[in-house]
Parts: sequence; structure tokens; C-alpha cells
Amino acid sequence: MGQDSSPHWAAAMRDFDCLSVRNGELHIEGVSTVELAQRYGTPLFVFSEWQLAENLRRFHEAFAAGWPGPVDVLPAMKANTMLAIRRLLSRQGAGADIYSPEELAGVLRTGVDPERVSVNGGGKSKTHLRNCVEAGVRITVEDVDEIELIQEVAAELSATAKIRFRVKPALPNLWRRTDFSQLSVPIDLGIQVYKSGLPPEYLPEMGRRVLAMPNVELVGIHFHAGRHHPSLWYWEGMMVRLARLIGELSREWGRWQPLEIDIGGGFASPRDPHNKEFPRSEFLLTALGYPFLVGLRGLGDRAYHSLLSRILAVLTSHRDPKAPPTIEEYARTVTGVLRRELPRNGIDVDGVRLQVEPGRAMYGDTGIHLATVKKVKRQSLPIPYTWILTDTTYFFLAGGVFEHNRHPFVFVKNPDAPATQTADIVGHSCYADQIVLGAPVPEVEAGDVVAFLETGAYQESSASNFNSLPRPASVLVDGERSELVKRAETIDDVYRRDVIPERLLKKPASQS
Ligand SMILES: Cc1ncc(COP(=O)(O)O)c(C=O)c1O
Repeated sequence: MGQDSSPHWAAAMRDFDCLSVRNGELHIEGVSTVELAQRYGTPLFVFSEWQLAENLRRFHEAFAAGWPGPVDVLPAMKANTMLAIRRLLSRQGAGADIYSPEELAGVLRTGVDPERVSVNGGGKSKTHLRNCVEAGVRITVEDVDEIELIQEVAAELSATAKIRFRVKPALPNLWRRTDFSQLSVPIDLGIQVYKSGLPPEYLPEMGRRVLAMPNVELVGIHFHAGRHHPSLWYWEGMMVRLARLIGELSREWGRWQPLEIDIGGGFASPRDPHNKEFPRSEFLLTALGYPFLVGLRGLGDRAYHSLLSRILAVLTSHRDPKAPPTIEEYARTVTGVLRRELPRNGIDVDGVRLQVEPGRAMYGDTGIHLATVKKVKRQSLPIPYTWILTDTTYFFLAGGVFEHNRHPFVFVKNPDAPATQTADIVGHSCYADQIVLGAPVPEVEAGDVVAFLETGAYQESSASNFNSLPRPASVLVDGERSELVKRAETIDDVYRRDVIPERLLKKPASQS
């Protein structure tokens, strides 16, 4: 691939990739994205079956290579709720991390092994807990009073509920800045203000109560903190503190030994778009530079706007992001630290089941999002600017908006064409809808198709209908074959839940 077409695209090429360029067109597996756009229309989500299987295989093999006991991969359902995708995973023996009753209902339709399903979430209702016990899934406890409700439900069903505690250790060793916040906040603080997880002060007493319950079995410990930092340093720090906490709890609970340890998700996907839209230094720069900027107005309109556009170019310029570690490096770090630290804390690792719940790292690079250029709009005064207006919107890539993602992109015909201009690639909702701000792009015109990469996780599942825009279809590619796995919404779908009360359908009295 050419180095100068787009820094994001150049950085995007790697091993284990479902994407390639053949005959001057971007392909996903054996299918041309140009043909996909023609056949299914745009906007369109496209997923690679091969990439999904490959990611699952790598996660499983990498963790199994470093761990003495059994290993399960439990991809997070929230990151991709499509049933065809889920069915592929269930068929290959993957479990699932589930958040809501609705995700549980979905995953159970796909033939998943319930023993490998972890149901998270605070405020679980009695009905939800009953469904969990009946289905035989693991209940990952998030609330202090949840255990009494579980005992009640399990007793009513004459069953044994297998539960784990979702813990939240203190992590003062994680002092670097979290990527989750635009502010400079240490990871430790970022994790503490996250609502999920049982505060450590309740755990000793909760454990003692559960160990005395006739219908509840405490089988393990769960910990998920999220993607705060893409480094191995982050995983080393988390695993050290997790092992220490498990050791402390074991001593509190009369040498209790976990049968399962679930380390959650939070590992970066290979092109890691997370929080790359606004480099933090720019925030500081703009905060400090703002009074100076406003002061420049004294130079007169022309000089002021000319300086503004130069400053803007600096503020929106991006460097290629550093690649995160590989799945294998991540697994080696996690298993290595746990094997070293758990025995030091009195825990025997032999036979302990290790579970991992990748979301973005499982699905991110399995998906691309195709959109068509509707217009190229330019202005030269008062500041020069170019917008590439597409037929999609960042409301269809909403997961990325929440997390300030900068998705790598590529124009699917002649991806090697050199970048000749800087433009914002924007969507067609009435918001600013900046999908990629300050993008280095080649010459493009209406009708060209752009692919946003690394959109397989959280994007389709968080798409919304702002401006009454119907959400796009999804297509699954397998070798040379493509199939629709979710149809596009129609205008009837968009307004399906609306009800106009009968009285409003009558003519107003003043008109009758
Ligand atoms: C409990 C749990 N596990 C796994 C995940 C997946 O996280 P990620 O997509 O960062 O891997 C999440 C995401 O929020 C989660 O809450």
C-alpha cells in the first residue's frame, strides 16, 4: 500500500487481515467492496466471517498456551448483537458476556453453552434472575443485595445458582492517564468512578453470607475495567492487584479457592480507533491558547482568519497511532502475571478456569462501514475548508462518537491514490456530523465509496435514528460469498413505535 494515500490506511495494513487491495479495489475476503456497495447500497455494514473465526481462534490458543487450566472466550454481546454473528461464535464454542435480559434472550437463541455465559449488570430484577437460574448461566453479581434475591429464586426452583462476584480492586499502581476521559485523569480514578463492580468493603461479609447459602455456589471472581490504556503495562498492573484481592478474599473466606477467574474485556483492537479523534495535548493547547486566539482579532478580519485556519490545521493534524500489543502478547502478559501472583497470594492455579471477554478486540476488525460521497463542498473565505459529505452519519457509528474514535478510512477504488487535500469526512445528519476530522484524502467526487475501518464493534449495535434516518443493512462475507444478515430499516420501521392518539386525528374544533 502507498504510504502517502492516508496515514490511517497505511498504518492499517497488518497480518491476520480480511482486507486487501485487488485490481485496484478494496476487498473484504474475496469480495470487492465496490460490488458490495452496488449490490446492497450504502450506507452498509460489512462483516468478515473469516476474521471473526480467526480472532476467536487466536484468543483461545493464546490464552490456552499460557494457562494450566481450561480457557473460555466469552465475546461481549453488547459490542455486536447480530444473531448471525453470534451464531457463528456459538457454533465454535464461544461463550458470551451478557449485560441485559434482552441480550440474554438473544444469545440463548443461538445455541450457546449456558455454562459459558456470564450475566453482568446492576439492578437485576427477580424475573431476570429467575431466567438466569433456569437457563443455567453464570450470574455475575454487581449489587450487594443481589445474593439474597438469587438464593430466593434458586430455592423456589430447587436449583443451585452458580455465581461470581464482580470486583473492583483499588489500583493506585495505574497512575497513567485513562483514555476514557478527555481530561487528564489517572486510570485508577477512572475505574473508581465507573459504577460497575462491588465495592471491596462489602466483599468479606457477602462471601461469608453466600458460603452459608444452600442454593448458591460462589464459583469465581470477575473483573472488568474497560479499555483505559492499550499497553501491556496496564494489564500487568491490573492482574497484580486482582491476584492480591483474590488472595485477601480467600483468607477472609477460610481459604476459599476460585474455580473460575474472569478478567473481562478491555483489550484494544488492532487499529485501535479509541479516543484518537482529539489528542489530549490539543485540549490543553486550546484551553491555554484561547485568550491569545481571541486577542488576534485586533489584527483585523483577514489576518485573523488566516491565522485561525493555520492554527486549525495544526490542531486537527494527526499522527499514525501506535499499534497496540497483539492478542498473543496480551495473553502472555495476563497468564504470566496471574501464574506468578496468584500462588504468591495463596491461590492454587491448577485447574482454575480462566475466562476472557473481548468486545472491541473480538469484533472491531471484523467489520467495515461503507458510505457513498454525495458531494464535495468547499469554501475559501473567510477560512478555506473542504467537506466530503457522505450518505451515512455518525449516528450510525455512535459507539465511536461516545469514545471519540478516529476510524481509519480508505476510498475503495484506487486506495493507493495519494492524498492531495485535507477535508472533514462528514455525515448527512444536521449535526456537524464529523466522522473523520481533518482527513488527508485523495481527489474524490460524488459517487465514490469510502470504507470506515475497525467498525465491527459497538457501531452497528449503537446506531440510532436521528433525523429519522433508517439504520443500514448488514452483510456477512465468507470467501467469495456475501449474504444479508440484517436488513436495512424502512421508513415504516422508523415510525413503527409512534402512536397518534385518536383525538388528535380528529380535526380541531375550530376547523370543523
Ligand atoms: C463486563 C464486560 N465485559 C466485557 C466488555 C467488553 O469490553 P471491550 O469491548 O472493551 O473489550 C464489557 C464492555 O463494557 C463489559 O462491561
